[in-house]
Amino acid sequence: METEYALACEELRAAPRRWLVTGAAGFIGSNLLEQLLRLGQEVVVLDDLSTGRLHNIEEAVAASGAPADRCRFIEADAADRDAALEACRGVDIVLHQAAMGSVPRSNRGAARDLRLQRRGFRQRAGRGPPERRPTCRVYGDGRSSRDFFYVDDAVQANLLAATAEASATGAIYNVASGDPTILNELFDIIRDGLARMRPELRDVEPFYEQFRAGDIRHSYADISRARLRLGYVPTHSLAQGLELTLDWYTAH
Ligand SMILES: NC(=O)c1ccc[n+]([C@@H]2O[C@H](COP(=O)([O-])OP(=O)(O)OC[C@H]3O[C@@H](n4cnc5c(N)ncnc54)[C@H](O)[C@@H]3O)[C@@H](O)[C@H]2O)c1
Repeated sequence: METEYALACEELRAAPRRWLVTGAAGFIGSNLLEQLLRLGQEVVVLDDLSTGRLHNIEEAVAASGAPADRCRFIEADAADRDAALEACRGVDIVLHQAAMGSVPRSNRGAARDLRLQRRGFRQRAGRGPPERRPTCRVYGDGRSSRDFFYVDDAVQANLLAATAEASATGAIYNVASGDPTILNELFDIIRDGLARMRPELRDVEPFYEQFRAGDIRHSYADISRARLRLGYVPTHSLAQGLELTLDWYTAH
């Protein structure tokens, strides 16, 4: 049986639309851009390049195999009314991904973020204190949990929502895996995956730091409404998603 997502993709291929993706130089936005171009859509992308990179847009266009003229880039702040109006001209559907994906930065720039009408958080593995062994910084004691999911599922959810029947619109949908992961477990999976390629990483331990302002202990999404009303079905387990992610990092 075909999934709702496969049907939505077929429908888009048969009747291409014009889309605006804000934040397309970022992680989720550039993955959305690539999939939309693969589906034969025309896409306007708007990004202020504050944290995103133009290279992500170029790479998405190249990976899709679509002619470059099916993507138009506008460098602007999404909160700039005139730029936003210009970007929306002739557009059927807007996928709004522009935001500051960091708790501390988002807290500092809360007013600006509210103008963008998006809030979010992101757990990042960063560089640790200066020492020779590779380290991974974990905020808190590592027993916090987050609901991680693979980026293709974020793309799926956006496209399902954008093509949903009228009866499903106007609601808020949680999108995630529906299965929380403790950060220490996440660390173990990543370390073990990397150690298969780099055995010297087998004994690396996380470097714990203070919780950051605004961090919450547990974040776990109830995705039942998205399943029921959009036909959203996560396609990758955490382990599968991480395997693909590690492959990608190794190749790049
Ligand atoms: N990636 C995740 O794990 C995750 C988890 C939860 C929520 N989210 C939310 O999903 C959205 C996208 O996340 P992401 O991981 O792709 O983030 P990202 O930081 O990779 O991309 C955000 C993009 O928005 C752009 N941007 C920021 N402010 C802008 C502005 N004012 N005008 C125009 N462009 C602007 C940045 O340059 C960047 O390219 C965000 O709202 C984020 O909070 C992401």
